[in-house]
Amino acid sequence: MEQRRRLRILSKIPETGDTATFVLEPADGLPLHYRPGQYLTLLFQSNGREKRRAYSFSTCPGVDALPAITVKRVVNGEFSNYLLRHVQAGDLLEAIDPNGLFLLPEKQVDTLFFIAAGSGITPVFSHLKMLLQSRENAHRNTKIVLYYANRDSQSTIFKAQIDRWIAEYPARFKCIYFFSREKNAEHALSRHLNNELLEQLLLAYFQEKITPRQRRNTWFYLCAPTALMRMARMTLRTLDFPDEHIRQETFLPDTRLPDRIIDTSKMHTILAQGKNERIEFQTYEGETILNAALRQGIALPYTCKSGVCFTCLAKCTAGEVEVAFVDSTRREGPGSMVNTCIGYAVSEQVELVFGV
Ligand SMILES: Cc1cc2nc3c(=O)[nH]c(=O)nc-3n(C[C@H](O)[C@H](O)[C@H](O)COP(=O)(O)OP(=O)(O)OC[C@H]3O[C@@H](n4cnc5c(N)ncnc54)[C@H](O)[C@@H]3O)c2cc1C
Ligand code: FES
Repeated sequence: MEQRRRLRILSKIPETGDTATFVLEPADGLPLHYRPGQYLTLLFQSNGREKRRAYSFSTCPGVDALPAITVKRVVNGEFSNYLLRHVQAGDLLEAIDPNGLFLLPEKQVDTLFFIAAGSGITPVFSHLKMLLQSRENAHRNTKIVLYYANRDSQSTIFKAQIDRWIAEYPARFKCIYFFSREKNAEHALSRHLNNELLEQLLLAYFQEKITPRQRRNTWFYLCAPTALMRMARMTLRTLDFPDEHIRQETFLPDTRLPDRIIDTSKMHTILAQGKNERIEFQTYEGETILNAALRQGIALPYTCKSGVCFTCLAKCTAGEVEVAFVDSTRREGPGSMVNTCIGYAVSEQVELVFGV
């Protein structure tokens, strides 16, 4: 049910001391379709097991000739270190087709705010390219504001290009950097972005009064550590911006989800409909739909297995599924989208459609 791809690394471009961009070219003769804000899932072999990591595109179709991902080293991280230290131009990577819902609104809005930190700039950079450089762009008159937090200028990924945009589009694009360890940098505040500061900045942007029309025509895109995104979301909700205008991309789950006790005496039947195939399999009580499929050699799509990336999303068309996020559990029925990696069948039979 998932499309495996082979990609060749054409070049590896250093961005900062611990970050590099990998320019990719399909090595399997198929085009690689993606949208700004989406990510690629890379497949790695580690001790005889397959492991997956997602990397957002830092490029934009129609602006960049080839797709690229940008990877920041995580201390002791298995595959970010492998990519940065060992993978070179000419090497092949295995992947599954691009995915992700961190997408721009379809209709033009007045203002788009982006709040990013560290490598969280990657999908945002792809959006900024689309908004500022693409001719096929529904948001030509939209004002764009970027709040971008880092340690200092040197560790700020894509700073040179963002600075060029600041100079080139003074009426349309505003950017404030937040540096925790640098003072007096241009376009920067030497402060952490906290709720008080975010509220002050937003009120100043809207000249102290946010009208209902402005609330309806402003969207927010967050990609940063969870604590910063939680703070931003709470501040935006306090200012009455609608929740459905706040989109976020989570790179790392907050905490590990607890395992459930598996009851092998109780089974559920799953009917999974893909684009070209229909598969039936069983899950035990307490086993996620995804784990049950993988245990039986059925290749359902997934990346994070933690409920943060949405690669595994399927539409429930019959039956009931319990979806267990870190902070809430939802019971979903026909018509709902469910994450199969954290989804447990509740009814005897569940029907799911993939790739909708
Ligand atoms: C939708 C999505 C898009 C992503 N896009 C990008 C991207 O564009 N660029 C990018 O560099 N990464 C991105 N990531 C994160 C990436 O998938 C990996 O999680 C990251 O590279 C770490 O993998 P690893 O194998 O090196 O670390 P692991 O071996 O998985 O982790 C090692 C340790 O580091 C901690 N850790 C893991 N990741 C992070 C992190 N990001 N920050 C702090 N601590 C961490 C873990 O808790 C663990 O203790 C994205 C993740 C998702 C879900
Ligand atoms: S695999 Fe990432 S949300 Fe399910």
